[in-house]
Amino acid sequence: MSEFLLLVLILVLVACIFVTIAAFVIYSGLLADVVIKTGSPPVKNVTIAYKFKQGSYRDTGAAYTESCSIAPKLSSIAIFYDDPKEKPSDQCRYIVGSVLSEGEDKPDDETTKLYQKFGFKVFSLPEVSHAVTARFPCTSPLSHVVGPYRVYPQLAAYIESAAYATALTITKPQIPIDSKPAKMF
Ligand SMILES: *[C@@H]1O[C@H](CO)[C@@H](O)[C@H](O)[C@H]1NC(C)=O
Repeated sequence: MSEFLLLVLILVLVACIFVTIAAFVIYSGLLADVVIKTGSPPVKNVTIAYKFKQGSYRDTGAAYTESCSIAPKLSSIAIFYDDPKEKPSDQCRYIVGSVLSEGEDKPDDETTKLYQKFGFKVFSLPEVSHAVTARFPCTSPLSHVVGPYRVYPQLAAYIESAAYATALTITKPQIPIDSKPAKMF
């Protein structure tokens, strides 16, 4: 085979790899619409099982895996308390857990006990009438990496924007935002 042909083959291969990676990143949400709005949140009041953690928000994966592995059918939930731009990453607090029940449903006793056995705490979050919500499609494991890069800047811009200020004057949140998280511990 001539050297030229070999070079062309290598270039085609490299191009294929790049196209595949680009397609995968786009499929994972690189160009997806981020839908941000103020209104009723997607969940009612929920009872959750959770573990409190501290550390970089990049390393939350293991906590999700732990919580999911106890009851894979339950939805995951996480609450992040600190702005990672303002706090050193080792001081960033968060909880990760699973939603045991929502609204009028009662949590399953056995599942609750199982979570407690593995060191999870149980807590009920009240229903909130109005919240700022953002939606981002989760199409691949990479969506969890692409999502924060796409969503958080837009969420921050929305909260600074006139649209949010207008929404706030019409709809006051039921619960003062700064009075809740501290009660969880
Ligand atoms: C939600 O609130 C209702 C009314 O206070 C209560 O009966 C129900 O147990 C709560 N649900 C959860 C999942 O905490």
